[in-house]
Amino acid sequence: MNADPKLPAQASHGPGAALPHDAARLHVTGQARYVDDIPLPAGALHLAFGLSDIAAGRLTGLDLAAVRAAPGVVGAWSAADLGCNPDCSPSNHDEPLLSDGTIHYLGQPLFLVAAHSHLAARQAARAASAVTDAVTPILGIDDALAAGTRFEDGPRIYGRGDPAAAIAAAAHRVEGRIEIGGQEHFYLEGQAAAAVPQEGGDMLVHASTQHPTEIQHKVAHALGVPMHAVRVETRRMGGGFGGKESQGNALAIACALVAARTGRPAKMRYDRDDDMMITGKRHDFRIDYHAGFDDAGRITGIEFVQYARCGWAMDLSLPVADRAMLHADNAYWLPAVRITSHRLRTNTQSATAFRGFGGPQGMLGIERVMDHIAHALGRDALEIRQANFYPEASNDTGQSGQYARARESSDQNTGRHTPYGQEVTDFCLHDLTGRLKESCDYAARRAAVAEWNAQNPVLKRGLALTPVKFGISFTLTHLNQAGALVHVYQDGSIAMNHGGTEMGQGLFQKVAQVAAARFGVNVGAVKITATDTGKVPNTSATAASSGSDLNGMAVAAACDTIRGRMAAHLAEVRQADPAQVRFEAGRVHVGGDVIPFEDAAAECYMARISLSATGFYRTPDIRWDRIRGEGRPFYYFAYGAACTEVVLDTLTGENRILRTDILHDAGTSLNPALDIGQIEGGYVQGAGWLTMEELVWDDAGRLRTHAPSTYKIPAMGDRPRIFNVALHDAANRADTIYRSKAVGEPPFMLGISALMALSDAVAACAPDGRGRYPALDAPATPERLLTAIRQVREGAA
Ligand code: MTE
Ligand code: MOS
Repeated sequence: MNADPKLPAQASHGPGAALPHDAARLHVTGQARYVDDIPLPAGALHLAFGLSDIAAGRLTGLDLAAVRAAPGVVGAWSAADLGCNPDCSPSNHDEPLLSDGTIHYLGQPLFLVAAHSHLAARQAARAASAVTDAVTPILGIDDALAAGTRFEDGPRIYGRGDPAAAIAAAAHRVEGRIEIGGQEHFYLEGQAAAAVPQEGGDMLVHASTQHPTEIQHKVAHALGVPMHAVRVETRRMGGGFGGKESQGNALAIACALVAARTGRPAKMRYDRDDDMMITGKRHDFRIDYHAGFDDAGRITGIEFVQYARCGWAMDLSLPVADRAMLHADNAYWLPAVRITSHRLRTNTQSATAFRGFGGPQGMLGIERVMDHIAHALGRDALEIRQANFYPEASNDTGQSGQYARARESSDQNTGRHTPYGQEVTDFCLHDLTGRLKESCDYAARRAAVAEWNAQNPVLKRGLALTPVKFGISFTLTHLNQAGALVHVYQDGSIAMNHGGTEMGQGLFQKVAQVAAARFGVNVGAVKITATDTGKVPNTSATAASSGSDLNGMAVAAACDTIRGRMAAHLAEVRQADPAQVRFEAGRVHVGGDVIPFEDAAAECYMARISLSATGFYRTPDIRWDRIRGEGRPFYYFAYGAACTEVVLDTLTGENRILRTDILHDAGTSLNPALDIGQIEGGYVQGAGWLTMEELVWDDAGRLRTHAPSTYKIPAMGDRPRIFNVALHDAANRADTIYRSKAVGEPPFMLGISALMALSDAVAACAPDGRGRYPALDAPATPERLLTAIRQVREGAA
């Protein structure tokens, strides 16, 4: 994979090189080490939680005698036995490790068991006898609305103008509702943590987490020690997808408590069923919409009411619901708009971050409206979408640095302002969509689909092309910072560390390519090291797709500090100009000399030049008032579009994706191979969310789909039969690392085209082609598709 570091570096190793994932071979040969693979010192204990089997009520009695007597058990603790009940929440201090007497959901941890093996702990956990006093759980959105259980006093509202008046005055109107299911993360590696006691009460924690600093913070709090006494290390996750931003806290805290009490290492990993029962998922949403539009299908006024089902604890629900509001416009200019957001508390798992962080749900609302308008006017939905686009960016906002200055104008009627007042200065979807429309042969295939549908009564085809505009930056402004630590050793090899975590997305390789480019060496000369709170402190979660934007810049800054010191010294010795020193192709060019990089490093070491540096970066020019819904929350936007063609069996509801074409904007890609991987994976995961992944809770609040046997994620056989993915190769207008763009989350929302293609196929079932609007809810399972087909046929206008 990585070539010999001794070879001269080539351009093919820097930013833009399509190198494989740095651990690809380790992944496929089973050598990649995950938390559960780390050998622990002798005497290690294995932990399991005992779970509630009611969704709401009181825990009135808990007898753990049988648990303690079970084979292999070393200890079992309720909250009372522990004498403490540390908080696990990322935000609101509302998640005690174990039930404090109140039961909030079915699957909530009631007690903790430590045993000699993973299996012994799990088996023992079943032996408890709990006495509970159950009350009727609040499960769905309607229950929560009726009971008035919410995380804020009232709804949050963003908007502009007088949409009600605009809708009333409009030539046409549509009104409707879409129900959007949640989604299980289904990371291949489940939640896992291990704690190893150190001397003097210190604790080393290995955690499968996107947020090592938060684990450090929460463990320190639980143990009553300063953060400096806890070190958290994360080499990699086997997938996180947002599910490891906060949901790993409980395991790490449990391990640290047991390790501190027993003096023995402690490890916990959730079995898959437990993982699905205990941890939060994507928020399910309901979105009500009411829109007015003109004869051309252009929206003149629109109102959305978003209902987010947040589960029992606050977790990250407020910023998730905010991001849904911030993506209610997607790619479209909304002259008069009102977005109302309800954050509802229910007796279910605490919904959490999941790829897109609320953006996908918000975006689906407006994409549904576009589809509905097209149906109402009898027009192609792509034309309606294009007619509503924001204006294309003008060239004068190019790479001049102009862009970096926040642009605000009091005039919100230029057609360029989002509902929250940020001017969209980098819009490229006219061009991008136009290109995709050509390359996927949209017009001819639209005609072919119509032709097919006219001739085939049973198998119906559908086609949809949908765009994505996704805001990049954490909306919590202070999180947009990152640090790095870089060492150059005297042999010229380089150790690179930063606060980002690796979850399969390829962040480490991309950032290593940045470091290699700064020193002009082969990427193989750069050692990728585990994320470690002892090396880089106070990091943000690797989230909001910002990993490479933030950490790439921080690493570049650290490298440039060292490079500057090396250049100054090497130039001084040779009486050359330090500004003219170049680091290229494994060599340093100083005056007339060309020095191999390793010799330059050795020379600097001998001259007592520091070859180690930290780097820091904070995103410029962002401000955000989340209460008023105003400001410039995003440094820039990432764009993409996807065209999906499906075939639907109208007798069974079964369906397949026949072909998908994607054109996605990753700016000047840091690594096209990894970026295309993110786009393919994101699309498939997004399509899975909307078409096949279904979470079902019964009336008692028990999640019935808690294993792969009942919860269907897309497999190889579900990928599009034809899958064409290309990068829209254009430099980011914002001054990001090598003008690249974040790519982790935006492609997820390209999966919306799969749902809209199914909607198109259902619409084609109307006898005369002008039936009722399909109004498909998500996920569009075969059952929902059959219902929609029947309604479209019966309700023919
Ligand atoms: N890709 C893989 N293979 N595994 C993951 O867990 N998480 C996604 C995305 N792509 C994920 C992934 C999510 S939710 C985010 S926020 C980004 O990666 C985080 O990484 P980045 O900021 O480096 O893009
Ligand atoms: Mo991603 S949902 O921001 O971890």
